[in-house]
Amino acid sequence: MSWTLPSAASLYHRVQRIIPPVEWAAFSDDIEAILALKRERSAVILAHNYQTPEIFHCVADIVGDSLALARKAMTVDADIIVLAGVHFMAETAKLLNPDKTVLIPDLAAGCSLADSITAEDVRLMRQRYPGVPVVTYVNTSAAVKAESDICCTSGNALAVIESLGVQRVIMLPDEYLALNIAAQTSVEIIAWKGHCEVHERFTPADISELRDAYPGVTVLAHPECPPEVVAVADFAGSTAAMSDYVGRHKPARVVLMTECSMSDNVAIEHPEVEFVRPCNLCPHMKRITLTNIRSALEQNRHLVTIDPQVIDRARRAVERMLSV
Ligand code: 13P
Ligand code: SF4
Repeated sequence: MSWTLPSAASLYHRVQRIIPPVEWAAFSDDIEAILALKRERSAVILAHNYQTPEIFHCVADIVGDSLALARKAMTVDADIIVLAGVHFMAETAKLLNPDKTVLIPDLAAGCSLADSITAEDVRLMRQRYPGVPVVTYVNTSAAVKAESDICCTSGNALAVIESLGVQRVIMLPDEYLALNIAAQTSVEIIAWKGHCEVHERFTPADISELRDAYPGVTVLAHPECPPEVVAVADFAGSTAAMSDYVGRHKPARVVLMTECSMSDNVAIEHPEVEFVRPCNLCPHMKRITLTNIRSALEQNRHLVTIDPQVIDRARRAVERMLSV
């Protein structure tokens, strides 16, 4: 491994199709500072697929969907993990690395799904449906995970549910993910009323307008979209599954019904594919910037901590998912 740090200028080719030179000028100082700080502090940056290209392609060490970030968090060989993503992702990294320092550059980077349910709500669901196992989407707080039997992500929800060998499960908190999975299994799913504020805004009418305006376009949707949107898409899958789909099928034209940076990041890797870009921004993901990643590393903030009362039970639910 070379110990010479790359200059920001030498990284520009990675993103030049997406980031104009005038914008890049504002990023280079932070990029060079972050690369130096990572080495000085033995830190790695885990970045979700919804992070902006200058983060995703220029400073991140590990990138992926929620499932990949959780899996790869277990193998990190560094003292510090900076999570470029939202708070539940940082908590998952901390659950799996209780002895490492886990930092999130902005503590307010939340998630409407995580905010839709509390640990008390899960206890009430258990009372209402005694003996029915609780499958919790990773987009939840550690306290909610601690009340669950097993976690899932959009990438493994079907496999997790079918691994339980039961006829009925409680699946929390994303109603649309639950309905989209229910359409693929004979297991009865009892859902909650949580929604992703980004994906709930897509409609079937958006897709028919896109198909009229961009003939032949392939439509990929995240399973947090309403079922009527998934029903008229060509494929639905996690952010990693959508990215793999583009790599495998190389559609001439594609639209990703998901967060905006996802298309930018995948487009960089597939110059031959035309990306059609109506998309919705996740305000929580967009709280993470190069500037606050740099401050996180300079000032060791914001430390992600988990209530000792819940940490072991929450970890068990995540580890059980990872073993499926
Ligand atoms: P993925 O697990 O598919 O990356 O999704 C996470 C997320 O928050 C989608 O909105
Ligand atoms: Fe949460 Fe939706 Fe943002 Fe994903 S896109 S972090 S589910 S609010």
